[in-house]
Order: sequence, then C-alpha cells, then structure tokens
Amino acid sequence: MIKGPPPTDIFPRGGSPSVFRYMSALPVRGEPVSLGEGGTPLLASRRIGPSFGLRDLYIKNEGQNPTGSFKDRGMAVAVTAARRSGARVLVCASTGNTSASLAAYASRAGLESAVVIPDGKVAQGKLTQAVAYGAKVVRVAGGFDDALKMTLRLVARSRVFYPVNSINPYRIEGQKTVSLEVYEQLGRKVPDYVVLPVGNAGNISAVWKGFRELKAWGVADGLPRLVGVQAAGAAPIAEAYSKGLGSVRPWENPETVASAIRIGNPVSWKKAQAAVRESGGMVVAVEDREIVRAREEMSRKEGVFVEAASAAPVAALKLLDGMIPKDSTVVCIATGTGLKDQEAVDWKMDSMPLASDDDSLARLLSP
Ligand SMILES: Cc1ncc(COP(=O)(O)O)c(C=O)c1O
Repeated sequence: MIKGPPPTDIFPRGGSPSVFRYMSALPVRGEPVSLGEGGTPLLASRRIGPSFGLRDLYIKNEGQNPTGSFKDRGMAVAVTAARRSGARVLVCASTGNTSASLAAYASRAGLESAVVIPDGKVAQGKLTQAVAYGAKVVRVAGGFDDALKMTLRLVARSRVFYPVNSINPYRIEGQKTVSLEVYEQLGRKVPDYVVLPVGNAGNISAVWKGFRELKAWGVADGLPRLVGVQAAGAAPIAEAYSKGLGSVRPWENPETVASAIRIGNPVSWKKAQAAVRESGGMVVAVEDREIVRAREEMSRKEGVFVEAASAAPVAALKLLDGMIPKDSTVVCIATGTGLKDQEAVDWKMDSMPLASDDDSLARLLSP
C-alpha cells in the first residue's frame, strides 16, 4: 500500500481470481477499469522441473492476461487511479507490452493514449495491439532508455500527459498482486524462490512489495528469495550484483533477442537491488542462445509459449542448478505470451511441406 493501515479481508471468500479481488490491499477506490486481468494459471512443471531434479517447479503464466502480459495488472490499477484523478491523455515509453496494455486500458476507460517507442526495437505484434486499441504512437531514435527520458521530459513540460511507466506507484501496486495470487494458488504458502526477468526493474520491486506486505500484515510467515534474470547483452544489474557494486552502471547500447528487457539504464535499479539483498536472492545473466532454447523447451515440453524475455527465468535454471535445494518450491514468472513476439521464432510458410493429395499428406505426416 502507498499509505494507510493493513487491509482487512485480503482474501475474500469466493469470487473469481483477479487483480481487483485484492481491492482491500490496493490504494484505489471506485469502479475499477478492468478487462479481467489477473487470475492467471500457476502451472506445475511436468518436464522441465524434473529434468533439474526440481519436484516443485511452477510456471506462472502471465501471458494469459487480457493483452498478453503481466503489465495488465499494474495498468488496470494505474488507469483506475488516472481516471479518478481526471487525467485525459495517458502516456508511456515502452519496449512494447506497456504500450499494448496502456492502449487497451485507456480505451476501456474512455481516455486517450500516447506511446513513445524506440525506433525499430519493438515486436510487431505488440505494436499491432497499440495501433488497434487506438493509441497515438511516436517513434524516437535510440533505445528504450532514450524513449523514457523524452517521455518524462514531455510530462514535465505539459500537464496534459499522465505518465504510466512503472515509476507510477499504482503500476507497482497492481503488479504486486501476482505475489498475493501465487501465495493463494500454492495453498497459502510462500514459495522458496521466485525467478523473473528484469528490465527496468519495476516488476521485481512489485513482486517483492507483495510478499513483504503479506508478511508485514501477519498473513504469511516467510518470504521468498528473489532471483532476477537479465539477458547477458543487457545486464547492468546482474553486473553490479556479480561484482558486488553498490550502484548500477548504465550500459550504452544494450542488445538481446529479448526485446522487452533490452534496457541499459534501469530506472528502478535501487529497488531491485534492495529486493534482492533483503530477500537473500541474486541477479544473474543468461545468454541469448539459452533464452531461445528455454523458450523452445517451454513450448514443447510444457505447452507454454512465451516471448523471449519471459523464457529468461527458465533459461536461468541451468545456472541455478546446484544453488537451489532440490526440494524448493520455485516459481518462474512467464511474463508475456509468445504470440506477439513472433520475429524471434524462426519459421517460414514456404519452407513447410505442401501436400498435393491424400497420399502425400499421409506420407508427409507419418511418424
Ligand atoms: C514480457 C516482459 N517481461 C519482463 C519485463 C521486465 O519488467 P521490468 O521492466 O518491470 O523489469 C517486461 C517489461 O517490459 C516485459 O514486457
């Protein structure tokens, strides 16, 4: 909570799982702006976990949110607050998912949305969403870090714009509900480890806030260790962690196949460092080839198709092998669906065999 006493009745009886199920733990009132966010499946791993000897590996499939990523949790709460405050134009800089989510929730609320994207660095499917929901989209030269700086200068210069990047505290409040949900889905149990991708580092701070509050409110008696995962080509926080540095040095030209976490100057690095330190966790970096492999494995071995960034936690399991006790309960957060990040999957329609008749179809498909 931003302010106020511990909420009562955090887990109401009945009702379907959703972000606003936890209304008493959120600093917003009034009618929610909702598209049915939250209540995503926590899937017990059938093959990947056992391949590492992990009995209790779970995948929290945040790709099943309304626009296909965890961003919807925070956006629902931020747009609810924005509408009550009389905001008119909601703006964000985005690597893609935030823009899709903002545009959808602004439409739902009857507000305008404006999106600033790094030119050429956003997955096509995510932009398709922003355009379809009616956002005004502007490209800027450079990477996400440049887009965010320009967006914040725009907000400083004109009060018409209401910023909804993850520095907006309502975004963090909404995103923290994933922790409350995981706790409930595990049968009111705190996992031993939560592993999640880290870009701008808003989400790791939000996840930590959720668990910390559950403990502070006397609901849960423990805390998980948080493991933040960055792509090796965009890993300023992992670098600071591995070198034991107190502050994070920005990276100039971050590069990775995982476009959602291609961020060199993470705004919330201090909160991320605190979350990792306080939880006794760590921040690791994984190579792109491991991310691509993990993505394929998640699809083929678990039936969960994620975008590249969202495969980073599963890619990190190899590094964590030997560091995590085998009887731990581990939750990997699959932050977004693969459906809108298709550039990263290598296939071509005309390279697929073409059946000209029944015989050739049978021949081509026989095992
Ligand atoms: C799919 C996905 N995963 C992870 C992240 C990283 O979240 P954060 O920037 O809050 O660290 C993002 C951010 O855009 C994302 O879209």
